[in-house]
Amino acid sequence: MKNMKKQLSALSAGLLLGWLVTGCATQTPSAQAPKTTKPAAAPAVAAKPAGVRSPSMLANTCAGCHGTNGASAGKIMPIIGGMEKEYMQLVLEEFKTGERDSTIMGRIAKGYSNNELKAIASYLADQTWVSSPFKADPKLAAIGKKIHEKQCKTCHEDGGRVQEDDAPRLAGQWPDYSLHYLKDCHKKGRRCAPRKMGSRVMKLSQEELNAMAHYYASEK
Ligand code: HEC
Ligand code: HEC
Repeated sequence: MKNMKKQLSALSAGLLLGWLVTGCATQTPSAQAPKTTKPAAAPAVAAKPAGVRSPSMLANTCAGCHGTNGASAGKIMPIIGGMEKEYMQLVLEEFKTGERDSTIMGRIAKGYSNNELKAIASYLADQTWVSSPFKADPKLAAIGKKIHEKQCKTCHEDGGRVQEDDAPRLAGQWPDYSLHYLKDCHKKGRRCAPRKMGSRVMKLSQEELNAMAHYYASEK
């Protein structure tokens, strides 16, 4: 128990540090890319985002952290390639306005017009989801599965593969990211958009949250 708690808090510290290290190394050039590549004809970009900077060029900026075509290879960076288009657009716009908490994404999203965010979301949604190669702990995954069946599957159907009603794909996500999200949800009780999810997550222990993350990672 104690050990688990230690591991968990080490993980959250690691998450932040990881983002600072892996994130910042790639962030400066990535985050600035829009400015440096921006052509002089700025109004044309706003009117026709796909024209001057193609969606794939725009999405290139994301690759430094989220991997090529959103297939993140970094344990703590969420996989976003193949994420449902409307959901991703919503998330990006919320990062931009600050409605959704973030460490990094708020600043990044601010570098784009809403039309550009839409084009990026559309491009990334068209990519194939590549599940993380993470080998989940079978014992934890089994505990997570039980909870999932009782409390989560109404919205996250088919082991978390189905994306609908604004619920993103969970199957195959990096467990460190899922756990980070759930812990945040647990702490603040508000980042979980639907109340029903928030109140369920709040009732789970830290160990159970970890089990959920392992379960979804085990569903490829
Ligand atoms: C410097 C690293 C970095 C870059 C570059 C980056 N991201 Fe992120 N992204 C993150 C981090 C870290 C998070 C977790 C939220 C946070 O704390 O900012 C995240 C979260 C997200 C999420 C939420 C995923 C989920 O499952 O909840 C989406 C969507 C996203 N990013 C899209 C993008 C897009 C699109 C781009 C390119 C325009 C991009 N990101 C560029 C680091 C980055
Ligand atoms: C009432 C429907 C509903 C229920 C029940 C529900 N969820 Fe969710 N879940 C959602 C929605 C909607 C989102 C997207 C929220 C947002 O905008 O950040 C989400 C997001 C998530 C995410 C973040 C994924 C990501 O990549 O950003 C995780 C992890 C998650 N849910 C796990 C769970 C677990 C574990 C349970 C059961 C204890 C559960 N959910 C129950 C609807 C639900």
